[in-house]
Amino acid sequence: MRVLHFTDLHVQRRPRLIDLVTGPKRIIGALNLYLLGRRSHFQRVVQEGLVQAILEQAPDVVVCTGDLTALATDDELEAAHALLRPVYERFPFVVQPGNHDTYVRERRPGDRMRRWFGPWMGPGGPRLVRHGGAAFLTVETCRAHLTSRGQTPPGELAKAAMLLDTLGLRGRDPAEEGLLLFWCQHYPLRDRHGAPYGPAGRCLADAAAVEALLASRSEVGAVLHGHEHHGFRTTVPGLRGPVPVLNPGAGGYAHLPAKRRTAHFSIYDVQDGALVSVERFAWQGERFAPEPGGAYATGG
Ligand SMILES: [Fe+2]
Ligand SMILES: [Fe+2]
Repeated sequence: MRVLHFTDLHVQRRPRLIDLVTGPKRIIGALNLYLLGRRSHFQRVVQEGLVQAILEQAPDVVVCTGDLTALATDDELEAAHALLRPVYERFPFVVQPGNHDTYVRERRPGDRMRRWFGPWMGPGGPRLVRHGGAAFLTVETCRAHLTSRGQTPPGELAKAAMLLDTLGLRGRDPAEEGLLLFWCQHYPLRDRHGAPYGPAGRCLADAAAVEALLASRSEVGAVLHGHEHHGFRTTVPGLRGPVPVLNPGAGGYAHLPAKRRTAHFSIYDVQDGALVSVERFAWQGERFAPEPGGAYATGG
């Protein structure tokens, strides 16, 4: 089966005044976007091209690891919901919030986004869903924070461990049951060189606790994430050996070849519980095409 992973779409709509007064994080975000030029980092034509490419690839499942929006305003969530309609209407879809989708304090991170994407997010807290030979454990790492420092909510990792227990595969390779389990979170654990992801103000504060859990379990076959807009892959230790950690890079990124910047998504071929191949697609100016030389051959 083929699992299509995209992340960091960053759908943008100009905020209204009311949007800005409801959250200090949004004011900082809006300044970044509209005064410092970050708005031009993402393009609507690329976001629409991503949806077209997903339809053409016709995967068995689509998974998104967050940052659908820039400021988590109603207008942006509405636009992201409309943009992705052909995707969630046609394919099984798994989605979780990114830090940009949680810019306003909420009872549970992602509650606002859940008003539009609830059917594909679950009620909050970690969630385990299975689609054929692939399972997806989505773990919350985002919250409203002025410097975008991520943190799993209290109890999140203990609940995630309990969800792993429900598989009844502790200490075993889920491939024995024909299953590959993807651990999905927005924040990176490691950087592109395999070192702990930083800087301290923008990282996942308790990444070490996530890694300790992963290192103690046999069930996780790969970690999927986003947040860092230039894609990369690395590994973290697992009970059965290194676990691949995969970030395709931003799916809505503007095409700026001079800066070696373009949008990407990946397709994971899963057979009999094994990750057989990673194919990464890059926006080439008019459409997405397989990355020349294979996944990650061109760098970020
Ligand atoms: Fe992002
Ligand atoms: Fe992010």
